[in-house]
Amino acid sequence: MQITKVVIPVAGWGTRSLPATKNIPKEMLPIFKKPVVQYVVEEAMNAGLTDVVFINNQYKKIIEDHFDYNPSLEDTLERAGKLDILKEVRAVAEMVNIISVRQKKQLGLGHAVLCAKEVCKNDPFAVMVGDDLMFGMHSGISQLLDAAKSENMAVVGVIEVPEDKVNRYGIIQGEEYAPGMYRVRNLVEKPAIGTAPSRLAIVGRYVLLPEIFHHLERVKPGVGGEIQLTDALQGLANDKKLLAVRLRGQRFDAGDWVEYLTANIYFALHDEELREPLVRRLRELMPC
Ligand code: G1P
Repeated sequence: MQITKVVIPVAGWGTRSLPATKNIPKEMLPIFKKPVVQYVVEEAMNAGLTDVVFINNQYKKIIEDHFDYNPSLEDTLERAGKLDILKEVRAVAEMVNIISVRQKKQLGLGHAVLCAKEVCKNDPFAVMVGDDLMFGMHSGISQLLDAAKSENMAVVGVIEVPEDKVNRYGIIQGEEYAPGMYRVRNLVEKPAIGTAPSRLAIVGRYVLLPEIFHHLERVKPGVGGEIQLTDALQGLANDKKLLAVRLRGQRFDAGDWVEYLTANIYFALHDEELREPLVRRLRELMPC
């Protein structure tokens, strides 16, 4: 199974991050030195994916622009002799191929993925949610690609979440047939607390086969009146064609302020120059 494409839906409004996202896409909010979406694209690139399909709307074009050249800025940096940063800026334009698809109405994550049908055609593809960040060696989408290729099946990434957070996620029910690998039987999107079949939550990482489009075209609007990807995945689960893999590594939900701020600190702490002054400053601010 050869997989080169990753669909990244980015057309949604970042209502959880308002007012910061009134005119800036939530995917463009910076985490330390890079916008959120660059981390997602880098994860895809490091996993060997080469073609990024952004599912976008007419107001958020700066996302595509970020992965393109900026000749005016590059000229200025070149003339100023700032060659290190010039190299870094250019590298962003050379990471991946960008394919842009318009989602003309925001009808849900499932609808966004369905918009990629004409681009993906008969090929398997990955899906990554633009504000879910995963870090760690061989974690995130690369883990799912390995599993999908070896089992020749669609795979969703899951993590265990606390009981009082299950209502924020799609939750799976299945049996563990190898450590961290599940055959999915049922899925439920954002179950009420106390009703979830497990605490295994889908994070924004999927590897799908083209037959998902068949199910997406048939599902009715679900939770929130939206076309839910989770509901279409139930079609695969019914046919025993869906696996879940427990993801390793560190995850941050960039749409949650505590997680967003923690991610900033996490990266700054990994920066040689910043670590010490940052820790000192944080200690000054923290009452203890
Ligand atoms: C979407 C999916 C949900 C999944 C979540 C992960 O929900 O519908 O199943 O658990 O992403 O981030 P959203 O956060 O878009 O409401």
